[in-house]
Amino acid sequence: MAEIQLKSISKRFGDVEVIPDLDLTMPDGKVTVLLGPSGCGKSTLLRMIAGLETPTSGEVRIGGTLMNEVPPAERGCALVFQNYALYPHKTVRQNLAFPLRMAKVAPAEQQRAVASIAGTLELTPLLDRYPRQLSGGQRQRVAMGRAMIRHPEVFLYDEPLSNLDLELRVRLRLEIARMQRSLQSTAVYVTHDQTEAMTLADQIVVLRKGRIEQVGSPLALYQSPANQFVAGFIGTPRMNFFRIDGCEAEADGSRLRIGDATLHVPQRLDRAGATLGFRAEHARVGAAAAQEVQLELRDCETLAVEQLGDRAFCYLRSALGELVLATAGADAQPSGTLRLAIQASALHFFDAQEQAVRTKAV
Ligand SMILES: Nc1ncnc2c1ncn2[C@@H]1O[C@H](COP(=O)(O)OP(=O)(O)OP(=O)(O)O)[C@@H](O)[C@H]1O
Ligand SMILES: [Mg+2]
Repeated sequence: MAEIQLKSISKRFGDVEVIPDLDLTMPDGKVTVLLGPSGCGKSTLLRMIAGLETPTSGEVRIGGTLMNEVPPAERGCALVFQNYALYPHKTVRQNLAFPLRMAKVAPAEQQRAVASIAGTLELTPLLDRYPRQLSGGQRQRVAMGRAMIRHPEVFLYDEPLSNLDLELRVRLRLEIARMQRSLQSTAVYVTHDQTEAMTLADQIVVLRKGRIEQVGSPLALYQSPANQFVAGFIGTPRMNFFRIDGCEAEADGSRLRIGDATLHVPQRLDRAGATLGFRAEHARVGAAAAQEVQLELRDCETLAVEQLGDRAFCYLRSALGELVLATAGADAQPSGTLRLAIQASALHFFDAQEQAVRTKAV
């Protein structure tokens, strides 16, 4: 069992408080992704788990054991970082065997372990090459193999794919997902790429300025973001947001008029500073059906179209503000007055503090 627990962890660098006070459990055998913008403290958290950074206060526990005083090499963690440093004068075989040699494992056992890991990562034909004779993705797999070879209980990844081209990134992402599923070891994966987070995670932790904004499964974060920050960070393209404090409301405050549209809003929504959000993929141009809300947008003008083949993302300016819509078909460039149909359940409301307010069905 290698559940990782951070209890009341804080970290300062001199006067700068990077992590104010954080509690987090990363379940045994699952992949936890730490996701957030640059500088929010993801690597710092990972480095505290690894023992490369000392918390200013609080506890790091792995499998229940307090690790604060335990040196990095004895924590049972394998590290896979962005700048995978392989030994340039050693072959793939020697690179893979290196941690075992250091641990004075018998040569026959070293050979067996190298053969097995090379098989898993499809490195067998490359065992006698040097790192300079490998592609970026092959090198990254060797680095992963070297981390895996001692069967660590915990894998710590810090943006391991960010140096690679898109195709390789997608392939290795799948490989890591497959490997984690088969090894069932606990993994913590740092990224600022939300697609990577969505495809790899059992649990995503969204961080901002060293604080946790939300913890949940990829789907829970996509469907029920706790606040506007998470709503804007999860999902591509970014969720559309409109301020609704200028809109007319009916007397009891339960319905809101936007153009010709009437939206049912949560009863306790105070419109001052409130925001409406919906995703491009949840709106379509056309008349609303049952369970859908009609939203009329005047003075629309297409600013840009991202053509993806099966659909396109159309960026528009409207009387309400800028927005993006997913449109089917090759040459959809909507303009003028648009009537959008949006699933009532796909509308999100946020209060003046940017916290989500539960919506009611229409
Ligand atoms: N050794 C250090 N001394 C001083 N400040 C540091 C140190 N290491 C990190 N920081 C600061 O701590 C904050 C968090 O850094 P961290 O590397 O954890 O961010 P990150 O979320 O991993 O960002 P990125 O996505 O850019 O890698 C940043 O503001 C950074 O400048
Ligand atoms: Mg980082």
